[in-house]
Amino acid sequence: IKDQYILGIETSCDETAVAIVKNGTEIISNVVASQIESHKRFGGVVPEIASRHHVEQMTIVLEEAFTKAKMTIDDIDAVAVTEGPGLVGALLIGVNTAKALAFANSKPLIGVHHIAGHIYANQLEKEFSFPLLALVVSGGHTELILMKDHGSFEIIGETRDDAAGEAYDKVARTLQLPYPGGPFIDKLAQEGKETIDFPRAWLEQDSYDFSFSGLKSAVINKLHNAEQRNEVLEKEDIAASFQASVIDVLVTKTLKAAIAYDVKQVIVAGGVAANKGLRKELEAKFVASPIELLIPPLYLCTDNAAMIAAAGTVAYNQGHRAAWDLNANPSLSL
Ligand code: KG4
Ligand code: ZN
Repeated sequence: IKDQYILGIETSCDETAVAIVKNGTEIISNVVASQIESHKRFGGVVPEIASRHHVEQMTIVLEEAFTKAKMTIDDIDAVAVTEGPGLVGALLIGVNTAKALAFANSKPLIGVHHIAGHIYANQLEKEFSFPLLALVVSGGHTELILMKDHGSFEIIGETRDDAAGEAYDKVARTLQLPYPGGPFIDKLAQEGKETIDFPRAWLEQDSYDFSFSGLKSAVINKLHNAEQRNEVLEKEDIAASFQASVIDVLVTKTLKAAIAYDVKQVIVAGGVAANKGLRKELEAKFVASPIELLIPPLYLCTDNAAMIAAAGTVAYNQGHRAAWDLNANPSLSL
C-alpha cells in the first residue's frame, strides 16, 4: 500500500504550528512558532495579538515544515486543520490557510477538533487499544473521555468550572509567577512540602466531574490571610500543597474510571500532561496494573500540528471530508 502524508495546521491559541505526518504515526516535520513572549507581559493570551502573529508566522512556518520534510504540496494526500475550539480570530488563520492550500492544489480538506488532536498525539508514540480512557488536561479543558473506537469520543467527566491548567495559571498569578504559570508551579512544587491541607473537590460519589475553582479560592484566601497576619508562607510549600490536591483528584478519578470501564489503555493529553508530579503519580498508580499508561513526550503535550495531522489521518481514512465552507468554530464540541 501507498504511504500517506497528511499536512497538519494548528492555530487555535498562541502557537502557529505546521507538521507533516506519515501514515498517522511518523513525524516527518513538526514546526511550532510560539508567541508566549508577546503575551507574557499581559499575563495571558491577548486574542488580537495572537491573530496578528499567526498571520505573520503562517507562511514562514508552512515553508519550514515543507523544507524540513524535503517535500512539496504535491507529496501531500490531505490537509488537516484545527477548526475548533479556540480563539476565533486565531483559528480563522489556520482554517483559511488550509482551505486555500487544499483548494488551489485539489487536495482533500479535513477539520480536526483540537482535543481529538491532543488525544491522538499519543498515537505518534504507540498504537491505541480500545476501549481506552483519555485524561485531557489543558488550559481550556479537563475531561475524562472514553473511546471505544477510532474517532468515537464519549465524555464521562468534565470540569464544572476552571480547567486544571487555568487553575495552575491563576494560582501562579497570585504567587506572582510568569505566564503561563503551570511549569513554574510544577518546579516550585518539587522543592516544597505539602504543609497545607487544601480541599479536594470529590463531588458526588459516582461523579467523574472535576471542580478546581474552590481550590483556587482556598489558595488565594490562604495567601490573603497570611499577609494580614504577617505570617510567612513559603511559595514552594503553597505550590506543593496546591499541586498535591490537583493530582490527588485527577489521578484518583482517572484510576476509578479506568477500572469501572475496564479499559486497556489510559492516555494523558494536553499541556498539563507535561506536569512532572502528575506523570510520576500516574506512573506509580498504573505500574502494577494491567492497564497500559501512555503519556506523550513533553513536546507533544503542548500545542503542535503533528497531533492534528495524526487525528486528521484517522478522520481521512474514515472518509471524513470538510466542505469548502469550513469555518472556525470557537465552541466546537467533540
Ligand atoms: O494544551 P495546552 O498547550 O494549551 C491549551 O490547549 O490549553 O495547555 C496549556 C496549559 C497552561 O495552562 C499551562 O500552564 C499548562 O498547560 N502547563 C502545565 C505544565 N506545563 C504546561 N501545568 C502544570 N504543570 C506543567 N508542567
Ligand atoms: Zn491545546
